[in-house]
Amino acid sequence: MGARNADSSAKGSRSKLITLKINGQKTTVTVPVRRTLVDLLRDNLRMTGTKRGCDEGTCGSCTVLLGSRPVYSCMLLAVNADGQDITTIEGVFQNQEALALGRAFASTYASQCGYCTPGFIMSAYALLRQNPDPSERDVRFALSGNLCRCTGYSKIVGAVLATAQGLKEGQSR
Ligand code: FES
Ligand code: FES
Repeated sequence: MGARNADSSAKGSRSKLITLKINGQKTTVTVPVRRTLVDLLRDNLRMTGTKRGCDEGTCGSCTVLLGSRPVYSCMLLAVNADGQDITTIEGVFQNQEALALGRAFASTYASQCGYCTPGFIMSAYALLRQNPDPSERDVRFALSGNLCRCTGYSKIVGAVLATAQGLKEGQSR
């Protein structure tokens, strides 16, 4: 009995059974303790909407929501997200703010190659949920952890401000 316990604890030091709620769906999976959340999402769960860019916490392409907070999923071990709610780009479009952001990014050419776009949408969505009427400064601050090599930032910031304005007008009708 003691030996079996020792054995399973040695095994447990390499992998762990975790349960996450991803986009509202309970997901139980055994992961190596050193696997990052972005690797779990993309490589194990085949949720490739979350992009891996720098893989070192500087570009924001891998942004997902942990609860309501945007985080770099390349900098978070999957085991440290055990028991948490995760929202990825695949699930966020169930919400009107994200849908409106997607439309604004498309119609204002705020997305070109599109590689950074999921990360920007996740950060912008988190901002609009917390602050539906952001100033340009608020938007630039909220997106300061996301990098885009194609568009520059004016169109992206403009798309977020236009989304906030459109949602506000929609609500006042
Ligand atoms: S891939 Fe995570 S911050 Fe760049
Ligand atoms: S649209 Fe290409 S990196 Fe941002």
